[in-house]
Amino acid sequence: MDEQLNRLDSHPDALRIRSKKLEGGVATLIVDGSGMRNDERKAMETRLREAAGTIPGVSEVRIAMTAARKGAAPMIAIGSGKGGVGKSTITANLAVALARMGKKVGLIDADIYGPSQPTLLGAPQRPEAKDKQLIPVDTAFGVKLLSVGQLVPAGQALAWRGPMAAGALAQLTDGDWGDVDLILVDLPPGTGDVQLSLVQKAKPVGAVIVSTPQDLALIDATRAIDLFARTDVPVIGIIENMAGYICPHCGEESDPFGSGGAEASAARLGVPFLGRLPLSASLRKASDAGRPPAAEDGPAGETFVALAKALLDALERNPS
Ligand SMILES: Nc1ncnc2c1ncn2[C@@H]1O[C@H](COP(=O)(O)OP(=O)(O)OP(=O)(O)O)[C@@H](O)[C@H]1O
Ligand SMILES: [Mg+2]
Repeated sequence: MDEQLNRLDSHPDALRIRSKKLEGGVATLIVDGSGMRNDERKAMETRLREAAGTIPGVSEVRIAMTAARKGAAPMIAIGSGKGGVGKSTITANLAVALARMGKKVGLIDADIYGPSQPTLLGAPQRPEAKDKQLIPVDTAFGVKLLSVGQLVPAGQALAWRGPMAAGALAQLTDGDWGDVDLILVDLPPGTGDVQLSLVQKAKPVGAVIVSTPQDLALIDATRAIDLFARTDVPVIGIIENMAGYICPHCGEESDPFGSGGAEASAARLGVPFLGRLPLSASLRKASDAGRPPAAEDGPAGETFVALAKALLDALERNPS
């Protein structure tokens, strides 16, 4: 009986098992090996073979490993060295701008400990699942979204340890993304082990770094670039955020955090500069209310469309 094989549900590799069958003592497992190195795949196969072999009634184990997901859309990770620089805001709005340009866009909120995309895109509802695969939530802006924030109440994921966090991320990346053209991945802040393993698991084709213009933030951005270099992910561009402030009352422009620092750093590091976004109170208000400015006409919308175009251009120049 197949129920015997349900013992595998608590196996560390359980999320990778796509189907299992027991017939005449032969256990047949279909296992998703996408995004894994060959040696990792072999090691997983050995673990599952051993685990299934010890189940009563199983005399033979057959494992079919599926390779890369068919037609898997390229993922682009959005990262930063430090927190609060506007990664999530920019990721949400880039996704919306790309959708307005006719792209089919997915967004994975990989900030497992502080998911903000359900708020930014006004899509807190729980995704449905089919055959253990999550179906991304259609937001009102033509972007499909999966976030841990849709799966657990705020704050709950904070206690997760490494393996649980990795398992949660795998559920998001292995969601039923359908025929999206590309997927943006909003990373948590920082360059620690969590980010390293997230990047290794998600296997993005490229990364975008968000930085504010001041020197300290740029040192952190350099760290983020290092992180991607260590994981063989090409950095396809830098975006400068909170560059310049236009006073809503008198129209005077000022530079609370300086301006142009990220562009200069990009040039020094040989990384494309994709553009800058000014500090704007209306952008923050609209973001908090789940109304991404990229969905509307106006200066902010135009800025995000320009950034999205620069991103697509940079991606084309950086084929992988
Ligand atoms: N250009 C901007 N003008 C005004 N406010 C901004 C701008 N960019 C981001 N913000 C605001 O700054 C705060 C932090 O932005 P956001 O959450 O996008 O940053 P983050 O880098 O994703 O942060 P975390 O590291 O916590 O994930 C938010 O309140 C957001 O609305
Ligand atoms: Mg964020």
